[in-house]
Amino acid sequence: MEKKPFLTLEQAQNIIRDIPTPFHVYDEKGIRENARALNAAFSWNKGYKEYFAVKATPNPYLMKILQEEGCGMDCSSYTELMLCEACGITGTDIMFSSNVTPAEDMQKAYDLGANINLDDYTHVAFIKQVCGVPKTICCRYNPGGVFKLGESEDKVQVMDNPGESKYGMTEEQMEKAFVELKAAGAEEFGIHAFLASNTVSNEYYPELASILFKLAVRLRDKTGVHIKFINLSGGVGVPYKPEDTPNDIAVIGEGVRKKFEEILVPAGMDDVAIYTELGRYMLAPFGALVATAIHEKHIYKDYIGLDACAANLMRPAMYGSYHHITVLGKEDAPCDHLYDVTGGLCENNDKFAIDRMLPKIDRGDIIYIHDAGAHGFSMGYNYNGKLRSAEVLFCEDGSHKLIRRAETPKDYFATFDFSEFDLDKNE
Ligand SMILES: Cc1ncc(COP(=O)(O)O)c(C=O)c1O
Repeated sequence: MEKKPFLTLEQAQNIIRDIPTPFHVYDEKGIRENARALNAAFSWNKGYKEYFAVKATPNPYLMKILQEEGCGMDCSSYTELMLCEACGITGTDIMFSSNVTPAEDMQKAYDLGANINLDDYTHVAFIKQVCGVPKTICCRYNPGGVFKLGESEDKVQVMDNPGESKYGMTEEQMEKAFVELKAAGAEEFGIHAFLASNTVSNEYYPELASILFKLAVRLRDKTGVHIKFINLSGGVGVPYKPEDTPNDIAVIGEGVRKKFEEILVPAGMDDVAIYTELGRYMLAPFGALVATAIHEKHIYKDYIGLDACAANLMRPAMYGSYHHITVLGKEDAPCDHLYDVTGGLCENNDKFAIDRMLPKIDRGDIIYIHDAGAHGFSMGYNYNGKLRSAEVLFCEDGSHKLIRRAETPKDYFATFDFSEFDLDKNE
C-alpha cells in the first residue's frame, strides 16, 4: 500500500527553485479540512475547544491558520507563551500545561490570563506564592497503574503506563488541591489528563473521557466545586505506516458524547466543556520533510545519503519511529531496492529508514518523508553544527510561502561572544 504525498514532483520542484532542500513543508488545505472535521466531531458540546499543542509545531503562520479555524493554543513554556502573545493569542485562548514549572513561566501564564493547568499538588502553594490563584484553574490527573483498553482479557490492549509517568496528581491530591484552590478564590475548575501517546484507536478518547467524567462527578460531590471543563489533552494518533488504520474523528467524538450522556448529564453536569490539546493529530500528516539524495554508498548494505539528517527530524533516531518515504516522480516505480536512508550526522542512528524497499534512488532524486508535520521541525537541534531547515507553507491556491527561513551560520554563532578573542594575533 502506498501513502500519497500532498506534493507532486513538479510542485516540489517549484518550491525548490525558491527554497533549497532540505525543508519542512505544510499543506494548508489539509490542515484546515482536518481542523474542521475535528470541530464538527465535537460540535455536540457547547464549549468545545481544541488547544493546539504548540510544542508540536511552533510556527506563527500555522498557529494563525489553526486560530482561524477556531483553535486555541496549548503552551508548555515561557517562550511558547511569548509566541502566542506575538500572534495576538491571549487569555483563555491559551491553555498552559507545563510541568516542573519555573516561577517566571507561571507568572507569564497568569499575566496573559491563560487557563493554567497545575501538574502537581505542591503547585497550589507555588502558584499562591508566585502570582496568586486565578479565577479559573485546572489540575492534571494521573490515575497510576497501567492504562488498558478493552473489556475482556483476550482483547485487552495496554496503552501506556501512567504509574511510571512523572505527570499529574493522585485523586487524593486533586481533591485537596481543589479544596485549597477554592479557599484561595478559584471559582471555576478544570480537569486534565494525558494517558497515552499516538493512539491509533477510536477507543482512547472515550475511555479517557469515561475515567475523567467519573472523577469529575466524585470531585464535584466531595468538594462542591464547579467543573467548567475537562481537557482530554493530546494522544490521538496518526497512521504513520501505510497499513495502519486511521482514526475516525467522527467516531471518536460520538464515543465521547456517549460517555458524556451516560456519566455527566445524569449528574447534572451537562454544562461541562470538552477541551482537547492535540498536536500530532492536527499537523503530523500535513507536514513533510523534503530532502535531496546527495550520495549513495555500497558497502555491506546499500545507503542513500540525504541533505537532511536527524537534526531535522529526530523521531526515527530517537524512538525508532517509522516515517514513510516516497521518491517523488517514482511513485509508480517498483520498490525493488533495499536501502538504509541516512543523514550525515556522526551517529549511526541517523537513519530515516532501515532496510526499506524503495524504487532505485539516483543522486538528485527528491525524497519526501511523510508525517513530519508534528514533533518534527520542533525537535530539531544543532548537533554536528547542522542548521535548522526552512519551513514552507503549501497554500490552498497552490502557491507557496516561506514561513520560517533556514538558519545560517550566523544564527549558530549568535550565542557566542568572540570579542574576547584577539583573532588578529593568530594571523
Ligand atoms: C501536555 C501535553 N498536551 C498535549 C500534547 C500533544 O500531544 P500529541 O501531539 O500526541 O497530540 C503533549 C505532547 O507531548 C503534551 O505534553
